[in-house]
Order: sequence, then C-alpha cells, then structure tokens
Amino acid sequence: MDQNLTPSSPEQMQRYLKAAQIFTPSAPIDSQELFAGRPEQISQVVSAVAQKGQHVILYGERGVGKTSLANVISQIMRGYSEQKVFSTIVNCDVIDDFTSLWQKIFREFDSLREYADNPPEEITPESIRYILQRNLGKTIIVIDELDRIGRPDATELLADTIKTLSDHLVDTTLILVGVADSVNELIAEHASIERSLVQVQMPRMSRNELYELLDKRLNLLAMTVQDLVRENIALLSQGLPSYTHLLALHSSQKAITRNSDCIEKSDLDNAIRMAVNKAYQSIANTYHQAISSSRKTIYAQVLLACALAKKDNLGFFTPPDVAKPMSLIMNKKYQTTGFARNLNDFCEEKRGSVLCKKGIERHYRFRFVNPMMQPYVIMQGLAKDIIQQEDLKNFS
Ligand SMILES: Nc1ncnc2c1ncn2[C@@H]1O[C@H](COP(=O)(O)OP(=O)(O)OP(=O)(O)O)[C@@H](O)[C@H]1O
Ligand SMILES: [Mg+2]
Repeated sequence: MDQNLTPSSPEQMQRYLKAAQIFTPSAPIDSQELFAGRPEQISQVVSAVAQKGQHVILYGERGVGKTSLANVISQIMRGYSEQKVFSTIVNCDVIDDFTSLWQKIFREFDSLREYADNPPEEITPESIRYILQRNLGKTIIVIDELDRIGRPDATELLADTIKTLSDHLVDTTLILVGVADSVNELIAEHASIERSLVQVQMPRMSRNELYELLDKRLNLLAMTVQDLVRENIALLSQGLPSYTHLLALHSSQKAITRNSDCIEKSDLDNAIRMAVNKAYQSIANTYHQAISSSRKTIYAQVLLACALAKKDNLGFFTPPDVAKPMSLIMNKKYQTTGFARNLNDFCEEKRGSVLCKKGIERHYRFRFVNPMMQPYVIMQGLAKDIIQQEDLKNFS
C-alpha cells in the first residue's frame, strides 16, 4: 500500500524535513512569525504587562495554545519596549512547593542565581518582592502548568506575592498559566488580588485562525491545498491547533512523496489513518475501551455522533443534540431513547469515562472529559468508513 511512501530524492527529503520543522503538533510555538491569530488575547496580555501593578492569569482548555501565547508575549514586548525586558518561563511540577518554584525562577536570571544557590532562610512573598525589586528591571515571569502544583499553600502564597508586587509597583509581571479550574480556585479564594490580576481566557482557535496557521506554513513549503481538504483539516481540528499541525504534517509529507505541490483528499485520508494508528496513545486506549464489545453494538456510532454534536461554549451537549448527527450517521431517524443508555455507559469507568455528565436526571448535559478525544473520535469515524470526508460539512 502507498501509505508508507518515503522520500526518494535528496530534494524530496529536504522538503519532507522542512515540513517536519514547521508543523509542530507536540511543541509550543516559540517564534512570533509562526504564531497565528489571537489578536485579542495578545493585546489583553500586552497591555497588562505594560502596566506596573498588573499581573495576568491565562487559562483555557488543554492544548488550545496557552504556552505558545506566553512564549511570544516576551518577544512582542521586547520589540516595543525601550528598556531591556527580561523574561523566563518555568513549569510547575507536582513536587513543587512555593520555595522550590522560586528557586527554579531565580536560577533563570544571572543576577538572581545567588539566591537559588544560597536561598534566604525562608522564601516568603515579601522576600521575593524585595529580591525582584532590587535586582531586576522590567521582567516577565511566566509560571506555566499552574494546575500541576502539588501543594495547595503554594497557590495561596503566589496570590500573596501578586498582592505585594502589585502594592509596591514592582516592575515584574507574573503570568500564571493553567487550565480553568486552577484559575477559578485562585481567584475565588483570594478576592484581594482580583484588581491586580487580568484574566485572559484562551478559547479554542476559530476556523479562520486555523486557516491562517495552515496557510502561513504551506506558503513556506511552497505548497497549496485543495479547498475541501483545507476545510476538513480545520473542521476535524475542532479549534485545537495541535490536530491542525498533525494532519497538515502528515498530509503535506504524503503529497511531497507523491512529487506533488498540492495536498489532495487522498493525502488527508492517509494522514487520518496515521493519526489514529500512531498518535496520542492514551487517547487511542480510552477510545477502544469506550467502544469495545464482543457483540455488534452502536457504541462507535453514538460516540461519533457525540463528537459531531453541536456544543455550547464549554463543550457541553444534550441528548437531543446527539440525535441529529446520529440519524445522519445511521441513515435512519433516531430518538434519544435509542442511545440514552450508551451515553450513560460512556460516563462509567468500564467505558473509559470518556464522557462526564452534569445536571439532574432527564436534563443531563454531557461533555468529553478530554477535549483532545473529540477530533480523534471523528477521525476514527472516517478511518472506519462510518462517515466520509465529503459528509463532514453537513455536521458543522
Ligand atoms: N497561535 C498558534 N499558531 C500556530 N500554532 C499554535 C498556536 N497556538 C498553539 N499552536 C500549536 O498548538 C499546539 C498546542 O499549543 P500549546 O502547547 O501552546 O497549548 P497549551 O494550551 O499550552 O497546551 P497544554 O494545556 O497541553 O499545556 C502546539 O502544537 C502548538 O505548536
Ligand atoms: Mg502548555
């Protein structure tokens, strides 16, 4: 099968590797040129950074592009600021407490390294304020993966740090990055910092932002893409940019090995098969647990209908939302009673807890526990021939 075509000339190999460099499904963006969209979020963060006493909390679902935005903010500030701007980005770990987190941060700056090597007896919000104020100029400190921090008192101390940095107008901006719940906790428990903290929500990327991501990179590769394929890559990504990178990477490489400059439907077919077979192992495992059965069942179809169902802003859908795609998939009219049991089963551990539900009986709303599951389920639907690429737009 031509699925495993590999580059056959040095020129092909060069383009093949270039595609791998510019489509980065598993790495955050670190350069402004390759960063697509997000004008609102950029201007919110940049104007907070420019103001002394303001700090930022950047939150959103997994994989929407939070770290990428945090990465390019420092570059943007350097471009505009007359003074030198220092910056760093550190990740929280489960074993971190407040002291170990700040030791990590101190290590990142030459002028603060002595505090990392010989930490003050006790690292407190006040001692941090003093150290930053005495030793650094304009500085951006990004604290990423806030939700992973193991010790609950660490977030409380971080809130106190924000308060004191803000009260003393220290020229350091903290940008805290995390998934939504960690943010709500921080704000809910520390109303006193609400005024010093700008909350920036990272939504999923819009269709046009995904097109921008794609077009910019295809341009660099001197490649084009058929309209239907371009639309389907964006549709399948469901606003999650890592899927756009993944599908574009495999389909452009496939086109390159065909010696073509234009990505066609067959290239995307191939990319979808590669994605469901090779990428995201833990998602694949949960998927198989959710649909597996020794008998003939409709679990795969119902899960696909859930993935294609209309969702609210937070990703929730109701059983009637599922009925429409389910009827299209099965080619016959389905009522909610036809799959209600399957929806409930998906919330059980036995079926991988692929969905969760909220609300009261008869008015349950459902949601995919892991947002990355949704595009995967649709790609499985295509790979298993339950639906066709041509049908995708009927569901949007
Ligand atoms: N503005 C953008 N333009 C182009 N690609 C992007 C953009 N934002 C994110 N990406 C891509 O999307 C993927 C996810 O981005 P990123 O790691 O920044 O998300 P995240 O929200 O920090 O994820 P996580 O919650 O897992 O930490 C990466 O492959 C990254 O290259
Ligand atoms: Mg991240």
